[in-house]
Amino acid sequence: MNRSYDVIIIGGGVNGCSIAYYLAREGKKVLLLERDKLAGKASSAAAGMLGAQVEVTEEGALFDIAKESRAMFPSLQYELKEHSGIDIELVQKGMLKLALKEEEARHLKSTIAFQQMLGERAEWLAPQQVAEREGQLSDALLGGMDIPMDGHVNPERLTHAFAKSAVNLGADVKEYAEVYSLIKDGDEISGVETSDGKFHGANIVVATGAWSKRLLDECGIPLPAYPVKGECFSVITERPLLSSTVFTESCYLVPKSGNRLVIGATMVPDTFSENVTVGGLFQLMKEAAKVLPAVKSATFERFWSGIRPQTGDGLPYLGRHLKYKNLVIATGHYRNGILLSPITGKFVTKMIQNEPLPVYMEAFKLNRSEEYAKG
Ligand code: FAD
Ligand code: GLY
Repeated sequence: MNRSYDVIIIGGGVNGCSIAYYLAREGKKVLLLERDKLAGKASSAAAGMLGAQVEVTEEGALFDIAKESRAMFPSLQYELKEHSGIDIELVQKGMLKLALKEEEARHLKSTIAFQQMLGERAEWLAPQQVAEREGQLSDALLGGMDIPMDGHVNPERLTHAFAKSAVNLGADVKEYAEVYSLIKDGDEISGVETSDGKFHGANIVVATGAWSKRLLDECGIPLPAYPVKGECFSVITERPLLSSTVFTESCYLVPKSGNRLVIGATMVPDTFSENVTVGGLFQLMKEAAKVLPAVKSATFERFWSGIRPQTGDGLPYLGRHLKYKNLVIATGHYRNGILLSPITGKFVTKMIQNEPLPVYMEAFKLNRSEEYAKG
């Protein structure tokens, strides 16, 4: 069995699978190792929103990378369909970010102003205009931000489409193969120790989501990061209640095929427990009914949770390690890992090929924080 690769990727979530796909496209010999099944963690828990404008409310590198990644989806859906046969269910019907309080309305208007200044499409809708767009919404709303360019995908299908495309382009993907440690050899990581034995790699990519800190800590490499649990549920309605995704400070409702609404999500920091609590669901149900009263007569479908990878300063880590130069870390995508997955795969591939990256990528380098600089 061949145990030497150009690149070993650890983690079979959406980001590991995207990296595998973009590297395999470049003809790299790739091995992806996942300790469970592919898309078993945050990447299947996600609602799949491509919320560049709804989620990122400040100017800066995160807004830049989010917009660039969002723009990749329209062509990516066809590419992945061609390589894998999987439809990622891209929906581009926009989002409405709604205000229930005066302060939220003020905040939304200033977000609209900065996004328009940067050339993005975003408009304030008065309550009457909101009601004309989405007839089932509460009449207590104070208006909302119309974001025509944010859409959504099926996150589990996206992850599998990346993985299957990578395999069809020659990558090896191993499920149920846990990486126990990175093998250090001077200033290099020469390979990985796994439940399936040792593998050697010229480059190693850590894309283990919320578990990246654990794996790296065990190898003496610090990473300022922490987990944030999100709980969600879904309902089925007799007829469609919404056409676009609806988002507030406290919840979101994403209309999926088959009259299904995905409703999320709680934010519970510092836990790896994936339990779904009565309190979490109760809070979401209450918030959802405030914006869409008709949801109360919907049929409950199921509930689930996932662990988001958050970092000390809220920005992802996308870069080479300072000391171990053949080690690349791609994690900390927090609430936007589905949105950012194509650009993560594209830019990690560029890093490994020593190709230039946009200047804004400096914001995501590993040595931006003091703790990291020590490593
Ligand atoms: P993960 O999907 O967590 O994958 C990491 C993988 O690494 C796991 O499969 C794990 O088993 C594996 N692993 C860990 N340790 C090891 C090891 N030692 N050896 C081998 N494998 C290992 N983002 C959006 O863009 N839009 C959304 O609408 C959205 N909604 C969300 C809703 C919820 C409820 C949650 C929880 C998250 C949401 N997110 C959303 C965020 C998004 O899900 C994450 O940012 C993204 O899935 C992270 O992907 P990842 O590949 O980095 O990590
Ligand atoms: N982006 C939605 C969430 O993380 O819940």
